[in-house]
Amino acid sequence: MIFRQLFDQVSGTYSYLLASRRGGEALIIDPVLEKVDRYLQLIKELDLNLVKAVDTHLHADHITGLGALRDRTHCITVMGEQTKADVVSMRLSDGDKLTIEGLTLDAVYTPGHTDDSYSFLMGDRVFTGDTLLIRGTGRTDFQNGDSRQQYESLFGRLLKLPDETLVFPAHDYKGDTVSTIGEEKRYNPRLQVKSVEEYVDLMSKLNLPNPKMMDVAVPANIKVGLAQESIAKRGWAFTAEQALGMLGKPDVALIDLRERSEREKYGTIPGSLHVPYPALQESIQTGGMLHELAKSTSKRILFYCAFGERSAMAVQAAQDVGLTSACHLQGGIDAWRKAGGSLVH
Ligand SMILES: [Fe+2]
Repeated sequence: MIFRQLFDQVSGTYSYLLASRRGGEALIIDPVLEKVDRYLQLIKELDLNLVKAVDTHLHADHITGLGALRDRTHCITVMGEQTKADVVSMRLSDGDKLTIEGLTLDAVYTPGHTDDSYSFLMGDRVFTGDTLLIRGTGRTDFQNGDSRQQYESLFGRLLKLPDETLVFPAHDYKGDTVSTIGEEKRYNPRLQVKSVEEYVDLMSKLNLPNPKMMDVAVPANIKVGLAQESIAKRGWAFTAEQALGMLGKPDVALIDLRERSEREKYGTIPGSLHVPYPALQESIQTGGMLHELAKSTSKRILFYCAFGERSAMAVQAAQDVGLTSACHLQGGIDAWRKAGGSLVH
């Protein structure tokens, strides 16, 4: 396995680059905007293909690298379903699996620091975001933070992991890089409480100043910008209402770009074909299924995904290789469902 812990000195943020092998798919957790060039260089040096960029929560102390990585690698951007960030193309909920070739991470909803905080468990280690820090816990006094919920996330979820589980947080300001659940149970001063009330009381007395970057970072991280805005301007987008009228027409081929787990969980539009987004490039090249479909019939290719972000990137990629009938369902399955579109399981 390739496992790299990368550090941003300005915000004290740890980012993690994961892959199962050289030459394979990679995933990055909590990338920082200013470090994107560095990540991309390392990804190239290790011959990796970045397919997913994940934020554990909406950060207040730095601007996320999710948007820049999406624009430069066309990777899938991932956060929890509770997040207000617009850049996200795949939303997870508690118990969902986050997968790339050869690696699986379990999403654990751990609210408290923010209401969109997730931890990710991968074998012998857990990425705890700002929920559990080394000898500390993330503050709970802004961004819908809630120390009562954080107590539950800590004592009810993370501290129930085996003692030897390695803890990799999103931040450290003292220079520590890793800990274990057992070590934190014993020596983390915030965890030496006897009740939820004691924890809430402790957290309420911290009186921390707001992070320096907060007024800049939070709005920037909420509105990173959508891939679908530019696609709509070029006339390659259909609203859910328009797409409803196209359903069942012989001149339209609906292509579902989501992963199998998303299809099973949320259902699919009847009659659609499945081309998962990571397989798109191959499928639109000469000899690929979508390429042949577009060239041998007069069918319009209508991509869709969960929220319209992956499908917008797919439209651009297909148009780039000359598949001029490619368009997408704006807002994805989410908009389709809200418009009363039928789904099959
Ligand atoms: Fe945070």
